[in-house]
Amino acid sequence: MEGVPRLLAVSDLHVRYPENREVAAGLAGDPGDWLIVAGDVAERVDDVVAVLADLAARFARVIWVPGNHELWTRTKDPVDLRGEHRYRHLVERCRALGVLTPEDPFPVFEGVTVAPLFLLYDYSLLPAGTTTPAEGLAAAYRAGVVCTDEHLLYPDPYPSREAWCEARVAYSRERLDAVSGPTVLVNHWPLTRLPTEVLRYPEFVLWCGTTASADWHRRYRAQAVVYGHLHIPRVTYEDGVRFVEASLGYPREWRPRQDRLGVPSEVLPRQVLPVPAEDFGVRPR
Ligand SMILES: [Fe+2]
Ligand SMILES: [Fe+2]
Repeated sequence: MEGVPRLLAVSDLHVRYPENREVAAGLAGDPGDWLIVAGDVAERVDDVVAVLADLAARFARVIWVPGNHELWTRTKDPVDLRGEHRYRHLVERCRALGVLTPEDPFPVFEGVTVAPLFLLYDYSLLPAGTTTPAEGLAAAYRAGVVCTDEHLLYPDPYPSREAWCEARVAYSRERLDAVSGPTVLVNHWPLTRLPTEVLRYPEFVLWCGTTASADWHRRYRAQAVVYGHLHIPRVTYEDGVRFVEASLGYPREWRPRQDRLGVPSEVLPRQVLPVPAEDFGVRPR
């Protein structure tokens, strides 16, 4: 396939860890390859920008969507913007690098529209045995499984993360409705519930997306869906659509996998298009 440009993807680089920074520095493609970076690059804005600048110099095009970690507001970061303001700041910094974001016209890769999305979550994905977000959250607090977002991811100026999510879903739907032809959908959080069914802590599903996007892979003719957030790199199929979890994850997660499978960073970035003959030996656990 030499000479055919590829659409590649990675997520959850978490370069706060020096080992991960090394993996990020080693990500490479062939001339003409595009790279999707599906969120959770880092917490500090300057770290996010430095990594994206580096990647933008090595790939023909880089497409970024935010993860929850980029949206955290921590006292350690000189950029103390919150919520939507923080997101817009990141978008502006990406634009200065030529990196595409969910606020830019969707690029077209070999006839396929690549749609970077930022949908967030709205607590509509509920842990088993609960029927409302309030019940779900109560169960999560009881289990001691509470995402750090609850303390660091501010929805400003929206009244809640749910309201922010609702606005993001409406914005994204309007833009996707205007697209014809095949797509690749990209979002940090999974678009459907299926990938969350193997979570080690089932209550964490509350922070993993929204039911509003459950049929988008069909509705928008997805050839592939790219996501991260779960730190469970694998490929699943729903309705014949290939869902690629493209995360690196924390060293304590990927090191044992590397030892077990003998596949460290060569599985990254993951190939999205053309559809690869095999999925690099990474299998659902
Ligand atoms: Fe992550
Ligand atoms: Fe995440």
